[in-house]
Amino acid sequence: MKWYVQVLRMGVFCGLLILAAGCGTAGSMRDQGPASLYDRLGGKPAITAVVDEFVGNVAKDGRINERFATTDIPKLKGHLVDQVCSATGGPCTYTGRDMKSTHVGMRINNAEFTALVEDLVAALNTFKVPAKEQQELLGLLGPMKSDIVEIP
Ligand code: HEM
Repeated sequence: MKWYVQVLRMGVFCGLLILAAGCGTAGSMRDQGPASLYDRLGGKPAITAVVDEFVGNVAKDGRINERFATTDIPKLKGHLVDQVCSATGGPCTYTGRDMKSTHVGMRINNAEFTALVEDLVAALNTFKVPAKEQQELLGLLGPMKSDIVEIP
């Protein structure tokens, strides 16, 4: 949406609030709570850039890249963007398979999981994502490990 349309809408919204109860703090940022991780990461463009870099890192990573030899990479990237966007509070719907059905039978081991997380962290560092946001994101992905790793 164009910025001036947003400003116009905000003005109309505040006007209605003033009529109802007075705009004051009700319309300010103070009452809106902390920004979602999605917003703090920089929204969909930033998440897309991190996923591109991350998948590029995986492709160069001799520890795990053969795993993705027959994978439709653009489709995988799309699913990863939607998954991260949705998990961090963004306006996306993840339409891929659940983590257990996706990875079942791949016999993925612990070291491979660690390798993939390292490739993600490297991508986050490339874009200078702060430690707090990195930890929050990894905290959302960590619980998926038990559905993905089959070999300790
Ligand atoms: C937190 C860690 C991980 C997450 C969030 C994740 C997420 C995903 C997602 C969203 C997909 C696409 C699902 C779909 O197409 O419906 C996928 C596919 C895939 N994942 Fe993972 N994954 C993780 C770890 C791993 C690891 C450690 C490996 C192996 C080293 C791996 C190997 C694969 C492969 C090979 C595919 C593609 C399967 C195909 O070609 O159909 N994943 N993953």
